[in-house]
Amino acid sequence: MSESPDAAASQPVVLADADDIQEGGRKEVVVENRKIAIFNVDGQCYAVNAICPHRGGPLIRGTLDGYRLRCPIHGWAFDIRTGDSNGRPHDLEIFPLRCENGRLVAEV
Ligand code: FES
Repeated sequence: MSESPDAAASQPVVLADADDIQEGGRKEVVVENRKIAIFNVDGQCYAVNAICPHRGGPLIRGTLDGYRLRCPIHGWAFDIRTGDSNGRPHDLEIFPLRCENGRLVAEV
């Protein structure tokens, strides 16, 4: 009898090489049909769902002011560290990152 892993469980996935995203930079990646936006603020990278929870705006094109990411469509703003939407009905999904051997890894 063989064991089969639970396909629905989140798995650690390499999102990018840490060197790919310099301080102040950003990158969108697609993992298992999900768009994830990675932002480097002050040398620390943060990964969030790249699709705005309001109406699907492209957050990779959002305006970043410190840790506050503003959606380019209707202006909702989210803290990329926590996903907090500052009182809006939907917070932003975040993917805590860790660096392993120069690669950014998250549970996706
Ligand atoms: S789609 Fe992002 S604020 Fe509306």
